[in-house]
Amino acid sequence: MAKWAEQGAKEAGAEVKVLKVQELAPESVIERNEAWKATVDATKDVPVATSDDIEWADAIIFSVPTRFGNMPSQMKQFLDIQGGLWASGKTVNKVVSAMTSAQNPHGGQEATLLSLYTSMMHWGAIIATPGYTDQVLFGAGGNPYGTSVTVGQDGKMIEDVEGAVKHQAKRTVTVAEWVKKGNQ
Ligand SMILES: Cc1cc2nc3c(=O)[nH]c(=O)nc-3n(C[C@H](O)[C@H](O)[C@H](O)COP(=O)(O)O)c2cc1C
Repeated sequence: MAKWAEQGAKEAGAEVKVLKVQELAPESVIERNEAWKATVDATKDVPVATSDDIEWADAIIFSVPTRFGNMPSQMKQFLDIQGGLWASGKTVNKVVSAMTSAQNPHGGQEATLLSLYTSMMHWGAIIATPGYTDQVLFGAGGNPYGTSVTVGQDGKMIEDVEGAVKHQAKRTVTVAEWVKKGNQ
């Protein structure tokens, strides 16, 4: 989903960085879970996000899997170490949106997105959700909070959300442009 968001944002004219947050789970836990291990391997060359990246970005699209109806602790930790950035006003007016995945169609997708958006309200960020701003959303599960997908036990996505992700990315970039121009 992050790769599709990258494509959508680039098509909208943005300069894009695809980054991950630091993995915090113990090696022993990751080693016991094939899918987790595969994700760690597949993303080993993706740089870890820093406060400087947040400062650099006009828009941020978060992509977080559901963990018991919440954002994962790895992402929460990343947000929680941005207190310095927040205190200096540098999180204000970032245009943000979020996407998620879960194993079940009602596995907590909206709750996960809301958990992230709660922190964004404290940042003074501007949350740009997809709402129902494009027909493509109706064929992709119709989640107005942010694109969400169901991931089967085999690790494959069930709904086709590529178009919805790209639309969400383009919309986020467009709103960020409006904010930036209006703020000059
Ligand atoms: C600790 C943990 C908690 C999870 N909680 C939920 C959940 O509440 N609802 C759900 O549908 N799926 C849940 N899942 C499944 C993940 O959301 C699913 O694996 C994910 O969307 C795919 O991304 P991943 O490869 O990063 O896990 C959970 C997975 C883990 C490891």
